Amino acid sequence: MPYKANNKRYNQFKYNRCGNSGLQLPPITLGLWHNFGGKAISSESKKMVFHAFDRGVTHFDLANNYGPPYGSAEKNFGRLINSDLRQYRDELIISTKAGYDMWPGPYGEWGSKKYLIASLDQSLERLQLEYVDIFYSHRFDPLTPLEETADALAQSVYQGKALYVGISSYSSKQTIRMNKLLVERGIRCLIHQPSYSMINRWIEKDLLKTLNKLAIGCIAFSPLAQGMLSEKYLVSIPKNSRASEHSSLDKKKITQSYIKKIKGLSNIASKRGQTVAQLALAWVLRHKEITSALIGSRTVKQLDECLDSLKNLKFSKLELREIDKFAKEEKINLWEPSSQY
Ligand SMILES: NC(=O)c1ccc[n+]([C@@H]2O[C@H](COP(=O)([O-])OP(=O)(O)OC[C@H]3O[C@@H](n4cnc5c(N)ncnc54)[C@H](OP(=O)(O)O)[C@@H]3O)[C@@H](O)[C@H]2O)c1
Repeated sequence: MPYKANNKRYNQFKYNRCGNSGLQLPPITLGLWHNFGGKAISSESKKMVFHAFDRGVTHFDLANNYGPPYGSAEKNFGRLINSDLRQYRDELIISTKAGYDMWPGPYGEWGSKKYLIASLDQSLERLQLEYVDIFYSHRFDPLTPLEETADALAQSVYQGKALYVGISSYSSKQTIRMNKLLVERGIRCLIHQPSYSMINRWIEKDLLKTLNKLAIGCIAFSPLAQGMLSEKYLVSIPKNSRASEHSSLDKKKITQSYIKKIKGLSNIASKRGQTVAQLALAWVLRHKEITSALIGSRTVKQLDECLDSLKNLKFSKLELREIDKFAKEEKINLWEPSSQY
């Protein structure tokens, strides 16, 4: 039996307008960086996609190299589209990106037109789609003229392979430049995808202001700091956690200074009737510039907990001041090199 979506999926929360565009996005988006790769999608991950959609999550975020192996998250998602989701294609916002290493040689990464155009074609094939909704330049390339990257993004729209384009981990300065280049090419920069969380606050310096001024949307990735913004590491590093997997979260990041912050945040969260993860998501969404918080999830239970953060998004000034005592940098921004320019 093919999947049938919950009839009440659109009664659950308010969608947020992405900058001043016509596109609205759910306040929480599901990303497929971890837990969706491999030869076939696991039954839990498949359930997560359906469950997210049943709860109103219309946006799923991918990139060419999500896996492992590279490309397998797109391939697995493409199979799901083919088997169950194609009937809902017009209700879905599917994004992909190119910028990090994908295949060997000089045309398999960064920001050249050669790479971006070929990568998008490959993504469409793996996703079994004619177009993606959003195509991103995944990182800033200091050695390629930005005009060339803008040409590639614009071409993806002209050719109907992407409806909108975005950029990820660009600094405020390079965001302004890219936006201008895209406007000169007759298109717009819909959205910026930066990392942002209670312990990684770089976008507060100037990027958020820039996005506001340019009316570009913002989807904040790793809002749970890859799971660090939860109670799971308070006692030890549990099995089946990202820090135990020798992948993108180095267990050396689980320090005493970090644990102290989580204990403080946990007290504040429980007074609000929330978990640390729920507090962290509500906190990211407090800025009017943030269109969506882009989470990852391992289980349906985690996903439900994250979505339930939307039940309490209001903060008093006092709460925000209390949070600021603990919401301080932990030097976890792996994507910092891209926003240094
Ligand atoms: N543009 C870019 O360069 C870029 C880079 C990175 C990510 N992204 C996008 O952002 C998405 C999210 O990134 P992320 O996975 O790092 O986000 P995240 O939401 O910060 O971390 C996800 C992890 O947090 C833990 N978690 C989730 N819900 C939880 C809950 N309720 N309670 C306790 N722990 C919970 C799980 O960790 P455990 O597995 O340990 O349980 C989960 O795998 C990616 O899938 C991708 O789409 C983009």
